[in-house]
Amino acid sequence: MSKDNTLVGIDIGTTKVAVTVGRVDEGLINIIGFSRVPNAGMRKGIITDTEDTISALTSALEEAERISGMPIQSANISIGGSHIMSTLSKGVVAVSRADGEISASDVNRVMEAAQTVALPPNREIIHVVPKYFIIDGQEGISDPIGMSGIRLEVEAVVVSGASSAIKNLVKSLQQVNIAIEGMVFAPIAAAHVLTNKKQKDLGLAVVDIGGGTTSLAVFENGDLLHCAVLPVGSINITNDLAIGLRTSLEVAEKIKLNYGSAIPENVAENETIDLADFDPQDTQKVERKYVAEIIHARLMEIFAMIREELRKIGKDGMLPAGIIFTGGGSNLEDLVTLAKEELRLPAQIGMPLFEMAGLVDKIDPAIYSTSTGLILHSLENQNTQTSRGLDPGNILDKAKGFFKQFLP
Ligand SMILES: Nc1ncnc2c1ncn2[C@@H]1O[C@H](COP(=O)(O)OP(=O)(O)OP(=O)(O)O)[C@@H](O)[C@H]1O
Ligand SMILES: [Mg+2]
Repeated sequence: MSKDNTLVGIDIGTTKVAVTVGRVDEGLINIIGFSRVPNAGMRKGIITDTEDTISALTSALEEAERISGMPIQSANISIGGSHIMSTLSKGVVAVSRADGEISASDVNRVMEAAQTVALPPNREIIHVVPKYFIIDGQEGISDPIGMSGIRLEVEAVVVSGASSAIKNLVKSLQQVNIAIEGMVFAPIAAAHVLTNKKQKDLGLAVVDIGGGTTSLAVFENGDLLHCAVLPVGSINITNDLAIGLRTSLEVAEKIKLNYGSAIPENVAENETIDLADFDPQDTQKVERKYVAEIIHARLMEIFAMIREELRKIGKDGMLPAGIIFTGGGSNLEDLVTLAKEELRLPAQIGMPLFEMAGLVDKIDPAIYSTSTGLILHSLENQNTQTSRGLDPGNILDKAKGFFKQFLP
């Protein structure tokens, strides 16, 4: 956070760069600026063209600076892409004090021990989040500070990504003179805005259907349990429509946005779409039901992949607070109904649960949940750490203490 209490989140996604600027006024987060600019420099959440990404970043930052009237010098940034993985790791230390009372420094040491997990040389840690602590063999402890014991262990979730993808992201931000305060897996950031503690305690998944990818973060007992990125997103639906309807990608995208639906049975038999409305050269008329069939097939594939991820961690059909959808791709008509049937879980489109003021009504929660969640990330989740010394640092640590009273 800067001297004037400004927080900035930059979400670099496959289809767009989104920026949210917030200012903390009298304990309330005021959204004072936002911007969204198309990004042509990424495929499936990974930078493939640095020039294009830098150009999108430059425009998005300029626009956000113009609206907020604030220069942007540092920010929390999102990371995504199918190279992101979560694994479990254990750390073990001896409690340092002679009287056996566990201190914050013991907890820091055991978290560090969990980070020395054997990762392949081309991967880097993005987050290490404790699942639970173990004191002298007793499992399931959430806050060990002040308890007594000899041996302190932690079972932690380690989120890692490919070094090359992370490096390219860091380089692009350097090129636009932005100091990175923290790097956050996109759906973890979105979860700060879209979920509350009770839901995270009960168990839920945030599923972000983006353009190039579908990312998920599963929470239980208040903390992260699992992360995954599926290499399929809403662009795949557009591509399927272009092939199925033998039309251009531009027309296919417009049909998806204007007429797309997830459940063919809910579409009237005789409803037709005149493609000439989108492209005068295209004289076809297509049935809206057929459009829904194409979309349905791809969504069924995505939901099967989500179920498989949940099955891996024993949570298939087993998350009491259900699925919170976000990301542009979640805006399709009937998507939530289909998800409830296929995933056999409660499901809803995520809406901001975190009280904010200012321009908050002007921003589409599905598109801005990640960039807005990024401005909250520094204030929450003291146990979540970033790699390579990108930790928010002292100023934010102080801010965290100050803002804790306002967090849900
Ligand atoms: N109303 C809508 N109905 C259907 N799809 C939509 C709608 N609005 C946006 N989309 C789709 O959402 C996608 C963009 O979503 P989002 O901005 O969340 O992706 P991203 O963050 O750029 O990508 P990723 O997270 O995969 O890197 C586009 O493919 C777009 O077509
Ligand atoms: Mg995204």
